[in-house]
Amino acid sequence: MPNNTPALSAASAVGVTKVFGSGDGAVHALRGVDLEISRGRVTAIMGQSGSGKSTLLQVMAGLEPPTEGRVLLGDEVISAMGDEQLTRLRRTRMGFVFQSFNLLPALDALENIRLPFLLAGRSVDRDTEAWIQLLVDRLGLRERVTHRPQQLSGGQQQRVAIARALATRPDVLFADEPTGSLDSASSRDVLDLLRTASAEWGQTVVLVTHDPVAASTADRIVRMADGRIVDDWDGGTAEQIAERMLEGSIR
Ligand SMILES: Nc1ncnc2c1ncn2[C@@H]1O[C@H](COP(=O)(O)OP(=O)(O)O)[C@@H](O)[C@H]1O
Ligand SMILES: [Mg+2]
Repeated sequence: MPNNTPALSAASAVGVTKVFGSGDGAVHALRGVDLEISRGRVTAIMGQSGSGKSTLLQVMAGLEPPTEGRVLLGDEVISAMGDEQLTRLRRTRMGFVFQSFNLLPALDALENIRLPFLLAGRSVDRDTEAWIQLLVDRLGLRERVTHRPQQLSGGQQQRVAIARALATRPDVLFADEPTGSLDSASSRDVLDLLRTASAEWGQTVVLVTHDPVAASTADRIVRMADGRIVDDWDGGTAEQIAERMLEGSIR
C-alpha cells in the first residue's frame, strides 16, 4: 500500500541480475546490481562496451524484466507489474532518449514531440501545450517545428527526441549514449539540455555513456564492469573522470 512519504529515490534496483539465454549460451549481463537513483540529479552510468550499461537501463526502465531482484520507480515495484500496466507507466512517467533518435519519419518535429500523448490516448491540455512550447523554445527548435526528421541535422533530431522525452514531465529520463552519434558541438548542446532539465526543472536523469566529457555533466558517476557496479563517486572534470576510469580498468 502506498504511504504518504514520497520515496527518497526516483528509481532503484535491488539485487538485480539479468541472464540472456540459458545453458552454455547463457550471458550474465547483470550479476547483482543495487542502485538508487537520486531525485533531480544527473547520474551517469559508465563502463566499457559489454559491461551491462544498456541492460541495466532497460531493466530499470521496465523494458526488460530482471531475472532476479526488484526494480522500483519511486516506491512502486515495477518488476512485478504486467505488460499493460508497465506500458502505461512508461508512457506517462518515464522518458527515453537513444543514440539513434528513434523519431517517426512521417511526423514533423512538433508531432513527434506530442507523440507520447497520442500513444497514451491523452489530450494535450493547455498547461501541457504551454510546457511543450517552452521546450521548443528552450531547445532551439522554434524554426524547425514543421520539419520532418530527415530535414533535420542529427543534433536537431536528438533535441526533438529530448523534447519528446521531457514533454510528459517524466519521473525519470533515461538516456542511452544520447551523444554517441553526434559531433562535438551537437553533443555539447544535448548535454547542456540534460543538465538544464536537472538544474532548472528538477528532472531526474540517468545517462549511459562511455564518454568522460558527457559524464562530466553528471552529479554522480557509477562505473560498471562485467555486470557489476565497481565504482560510485561524485564525478568531476572530464580529465579526472578519464583518469579514474583508466585506473579502474588496469587495477
Ligand atoms: N538481448 C540480448 N541477448 C543476448 N545477450 C545480450 C542481449 N543484450 C545484451 N546482451 C549481452 O549482455 C552483455 C551486456 O550488454 P550491454 O548491456 O549491451 O552492455 P553495454 O551497454 O555496457 O555495452 C553483453 O555481453 C551483451 O552481448
Ligand atoms: Mg550499450
